[in-house]
Amino acid sequence: MGSFKLKLIQIILFCIFSSYLNFGFANSNTNSDRYINQFKLSVQHVISNLNITELNNSGAIIASPSKNAPNYFYHWVRDAGLTMLEITTLYDMMNDGNSKRALENRIWLWIDFEKKLQEKALSKSFLGEPIFTVSGDIYPFEWGRPQNDGPAIRALAMINFCESLLRQGRFAEARYLYSNELPAKSVIKIDLEYVASKWQEQNYDLWEEVKGQHFFTRMAQRASLIKGANLAEKIYDPKAAEYYRSKAKELTLTLRAHQDSNRKIIVPTLDQTDGWKHKSSQLDVSVILGSLYFALDDGFYDLNDIGIENTVNRLQDSFKNIYQVNHQHPEKAPAIGRYPEDVYNGNGFGEGNPWFLATNAYAEYYCRKSFISQNSTEKEQLRNYGLKFLDRSIFHVDPEGRMPEQFNRYSGYTQGAKDLTWSYISYSRAARYCFEGQAIFQ
Ligand code: NOJ
Ligand code: NOJ
Repeated sequence: MGSFKLKLIQIILFCIFSSYLNFGFANSNTNSDRYINQFKLSVQHVISNLNITELNNSGAIIASPSKNAPNYFYHWVRDAGLTMLEITTLYDMMNDGNSKRALENRIWLWIDFEKKLQEKALSKSFLGEPIFTVSGDIYPFEWGRPQNDGPAIRALAMINFCESLLRQGRFAEARYLYSNELPAKSVIKIDLEYVASKWQEQNYDLWEEVKGQHFFTRMAQRASLIKGANLAEKIYDPKAAEYYRSKAKELTLTLRAHQDSNRKIIVPTLDQTDGWKHKSSQLDVSVILGSLYFALDDGFYDLNDIGIENTVNRLQDSFKNIYQVNHQHPEKAPAIGRYPEDVYNGNGFGEGNPWFLATNAYAEYYCRKSFISQNSTEKEQLRNYGLKFLDRSIFHVDPEGRMPEQFNRYSGYTQGAKDLTWSYISYSRAARYCFEGQAIFQ
């Protein structure tokens, strides 16, 4: 076992217990310890968001503990799914013991909560409901809905966990998560059937602003159907496996249309029917997230794809210019935001800022490129460059290593919803790749 992996397991064990007991971590000084230290803090902050007393063990996953300016004290299906995609991966890496069981209990709570949300959404509206209260009610206000990345990401995280149960020989529990009856009754199959039958439906993007067909959402849908088909086969549901694969093929074909043949980039949205029309550059970090989170080992839109690479470079150049913080400290890699025309400042409108989850995603991108590179010099250069994005993030966190959603484009101070679960998760992913090169979808 690699030494980072061992260290990581120890860190998670420590975090799970220390978050109950409220220990602090000693600060370390060496260069690589800084990154690891921030990793510890990130896992610790995620665990405290998961275990917040006010949730009364409901299983909800808050986007952030912030209750006003902005109020993010809600369960977003997307954020929760991405969180559990990472948590189930960490779970899978841990050795059996009390901490692994404590984490597993939290995963089951989330699954039971999502089952309730599915029931509620199906009886009152549609599965693409993006936000729920922490007691499990549909968000009652007007919002950009449906958002169809949610069910696909939720399915992916549950499939990840289900595969882990199968590796442990726990077939009955795996069948509880995926069983073959139709109409679907099990939590994973309900989502997969929805994805398979509704993937062509117009829906809002992950930033909740634009209605159309989105690269990020389609990549999540495709991955869920392919991973779902593999699982269905193991659970003796060959007809479903065939059906999901045929739908994944249709998605593969439509996803190709996101290539802009003139500019050689990947565009985030096609066939827009509603929502904001301000993204003139058509550059968006959601494209890179779509590849990082959902590309499979079949090479389709993976990190070596030239369109993805061009999008990475063009976006980076653009943010380098428009964010003042990037004109200082050129030894650090540039801070990255959602898209150049962004005006959401974390609690209203004005000017957009860099986001932690986007900056951390760039670290993940370069570190994973380093891992797959065959050339030792290039390998080292790519990894060092990836670490510079982590440097950038660490430079802007507060003294307790806390990451909200954004940091100010001029001053560099933190801004927007505090302790954003997704920010921490993005750091955890990046650190895993920078220090070990583990791929989620292996
Ligand atoms: C809050 C959303 O979550 C954010 O992404 C968006 O930019 C603003 N609302 C504006 O719709
Ligand atoms: C706003 C982001 O745009 C959206 O992607 C996210 O789901 C919510 N905030 C909650 O974190």
